[in-house]
Amino acid sequence: MRGMLSPSVMCADLLNLSSEIKKLDELGVEYLHIDFMDNKFVPNITFDTNMVKSFKKPMKDIKRDIHIMAFEPQQYFDKMEIGNGDMVSVHFEACENPHDILADIKSRGADPCIAISPDTPVETVCDFLDEVYAVLLMTVYPGFAGQPMAPRSMERLAELKRIVEKSGKNVLIEVDGHVSWDHCGEMRQNGADIFVAGSSSVYGKDYPIDEAVKKFYELVK
Ligand code: DX5
Ligand code: ZN
Repeated sequence: MRGMLSPSVMCADLLNLSSEIKKLDELGVEYLHIDFMDNKFVPNITFDTNMVKSFKKPMKDIKRDIHIMAFEPQQYFDKMEIGNGDMVSVHFEACENPHDILADIKSRGADPCIAISPDTPVETVCDFLDEVYAVLLMTVYPGFAGQPMAPRSMERLAELKRIVEKSGKNVLIEVDGHVSWDHCGEMRQNGADIFVAGSSSVYGKDYPIDEAVKKFYELVK
C-alpha cells in the first residue's frame, strides 16, 4: 500500500477553504487533516465544531482525519457529526477513559485512533492496539504548525513500528508535525503509513499544490 497523504488544512489558504478542499479531492489525496484545539489541552484554537462539521460538504472522495487536541473529546462528537468514513484521533494525555472514548468513535462508524505526544512513552500504545485503526505519533509538540521536529521522533517512530509489528495487529501509523520534504522519505522507511503534511511540505511555499502532492507521493511510495 502506498503512503497516504493527509494535508493539514490549518496550513491551507484559510480564505479559500472550499476550493482548497476541492483541489485536494481532485488530486486524490486520501485524507484532510483537521486540527481541533480547545485552548486548554493546547494553548491554541483553530476550527470550531461547526467548521469541522462543514468540512464534509465540499468533499467527494477525500475523508476527514480529525485530530482532537482537547480534554474529554467525546463532548464534541455530536456537533462534529462524527460518522462513517471519518478517522478520529484523541490524545491519550487528554482522556480520562480513552478506551470508552475510542469505543464511542467506533460505535459511530468512524475509525478510532490514539494520539501520543512527544513526551509520552511509545509503549503506552500497547494497551490500545486491539481497538484502534491507527496510532497518531506526534512528531512535534501539539498545538502549532511550523514547529521543528521533536527530539527522538525518528527513533520513536521506528520503536512504534516494531511494537505494532510484534503485536501482529493491522494498525496503521500516522505521523503529524514537521513532516518535511527532507524527513518524509525517512519517516516512510521507519514505518509511517499516513503523513500529515503542513507548512513544512505541501503547504510550504516551494511548489503549487498539485506539484507538491505529486512530489510527496513520489517520496513516500
Ligand atoms: C500541530 C498539528 C499539525 C500541524 C502540522 O499540532 O497537529 O497538524 O498543522 O503542521 P506542520 O507540518 O507545519 O508541522
Ligand atoms: Zn494534527
